[in-house]
Amino acid sequence: MCGIVGYIGDENASDIVIDGLKRLEYRGYDSAGIALCTKDGMMVRKKKGRIKNLEDMIAGENLYGHLAIGHTRWATHGAPSDANAHPHCDRSGKIAVVHNGIVENFMQLKEWLISEHGVEFHSETDTEVIAQLIGIFYHGDFEDAVFQAVEKMQGAYGLGVICADEPGKLIAVRKDSPLIVGLGEGCNFIASDIPAILKHVRKIYLIENNETVVLTASSVKIYNAERREVHREVFNVTWDADAAEKEGYDHFMLKEIHEQPKGIRNTITRRMDEEGNIVLDGIRMTKEEIENFNKVYIVACGTAYHAGLIGKTVIEKLAGISVEVDVASEFRYRDPFVDENTLFIAISQSGETLDTLAALREAKRKGARILSVVNVVGSSVARESDDVFYTWAGPEIAVASTKAYTTQLVCMYLIGLYMGRAKGSLEDSVYRTYIEELLTVPEKIEEVLKQERQIADLAKKYYKRDNIFFIGRGMDAAVSYEGSLKLKEISYINSFAIAAGELKHGTIALIEDGTLVVSIAAQDRLFEKMLSNIQEVKARGADILALAKESNTAVERQADDVIYIPECMDEITPLISIVPLQILAYYIAKQRGCDIDKPKNLAKSVTVE
Ligand code: F6R
Repeated sequence: MCGIVGYIGDENASDIVIDGLKRLEYRGYDSAGIALCTKDGMMVRKKKGRIKNLEDMIAGENLYGHLAIGHTRWATHGAPSDANAHPHCDRSGKIAVVHNGIVENFMQLKEWLISEHGVEFHSETDTEVIAQLIGIFYHGDFEDAVFQAVEKMQGAYGLGVICADEPGKLIAVRKDSPLIVGLGEGCNFIASDIPAILKHVRKIYLIENNETVVLTASSVKIYNAERREVHREVFNVTWDADAAEKEGYDHFMLKEIHEQPKGIRNTITRRMDEEGNIVLDGIRMTKEEIENFNKVYIVACGTAYHAGLIGKTVIEKLAGISVEVDVASEFRYRDPFVDENTLFIAISQSGETLDTLAALREAKRKGARILSVVNVVGSSVARESDDVFYTWAGPEIAVASTKAYTTQLVCMYLIGLYMGRAKGSLEDSVYRTYIEELLTVPEKIEEVLKQERQIADLAKKYYKRDNIFFIGRGMDAAVSYEGSLKLKEISYINSFAIAAGELKHGTIALIEDGTLVVSIAAQDRLFEKMLSNIQEVKARGADILALAKESNTAVERQADDVIYIPECMDEITPLISIVPLQILAYYIAKQRGCDIDKPKNLAKSVTVE
């Protein structure tokens, strides 16, 4: 969702904050703004649209100061506009606030501020309520005013607050929205995400829920909700700042597609000893605990949910245990059947998706053991889990998830193999075959990546289609959901994915002359069945772009075009077959002139319900 950055130190704070916002733009990009404490008091500049618009607006102005907060917005309350952009100020203009999250009781607070204090509002946002609230409580003690305001707020918030009367102090607050503090030499930072400040610092404090942080240029103090100071270990960021740069690729998405072999290699090999045994660092589950689970629940959103669908097939097969999969926003309100014998697996790239986090808490409340599969180290989902299985994809910046997805899939296989072995239900020879196959996946993906030009040509052929369907059976059905999601989110083409066998139960009515049907027939076991489904849609006028293994050339008799993937064991095809679909979506979106890394209406990390 929204991105926030703040700086206090000797340098010019506005340059540092604007640079940080650019690195966070993937979190939201419908407006941006900055508030700066200058020698003439508080200066606020904000503008609808991209950060570039804000930069153009302030170009030529001498914005100079040592304390600033900035924000890049993904609208929740009120449309994208200059007025609704953050920062928001209180009525005195002394207090400025940036906010990531949603204040759930903002209407009550707003009514109270209007009726009891005659406050006039200038935006439709919940954030202005926070600024006005702090303003009402401010009588010379800035920290106290923030504490009092926060006590009245319900919902999720990561806040950065500054006060013109105290230009040497930056206050930040966290509840259910990500917040970190960067520790510099003679300067300190706040941000909603590490890449924003990685250029300047590697030492980080991960701020916990209901904590308030008071920063000066030379000190950082963290307080709990009872206003008692708490100690925090320093977290050292080990990944490279360059990993968050484009490195010559036109878009982060394309770079991240190409990084999949490396991410998968890292995710597998870091967890394997020389004999090919899986070593799960960070997971403390005992053999007895694994044996006692009678059900696995996988919960996630969007692309991560699609990884969960593959996880269901894989874990059921390898570990011989029943697995349910659900989208987090449904799980949490369904009173699901979960108890202390349930293993709950939360999958999340960001580790900050609010629905996933809420589902995790619900499962925890019911006694489940929580294992999370997360990419962002130290994120909320990771911290609230009993065990964490990190994907080693590296930072994923493009809104459309690619390398996080394939590394999440790898984790599903490793978890299934590990559990199967621990339970003694998996034969050693089967285990070894899977491990050998998994180790070949990176080079097979490299083979697929060599077809990038041919896939780009297919994109040129098909990019003007209004409707594109995706079909597949078994694990290919889950791959088709993911391929369709990739396409629609970045190209805005109306796309629909369905298990191929379900087509004739209704959806086939939509097939007409020229409808493009991307048909995933990657598994030998289901190949003949898929050929029948392809025939069904072809007979109704559809054009067919098929995806199959190299040996299954029979598909050419039905398909207008075919993308081949290298031979591999049926069970691991999803790791490979998604890659050409990612490339196809990318080049179709490129042909259509879309803003690939920052699609409209979306944000990288969905920290609101
Ligand atoms: C689509 C995409 C989203 C995310 C979803 C969950 O490309 O990225 O569907 O998968 O918002 O996000 P995380 O994995 O961060 O919980």
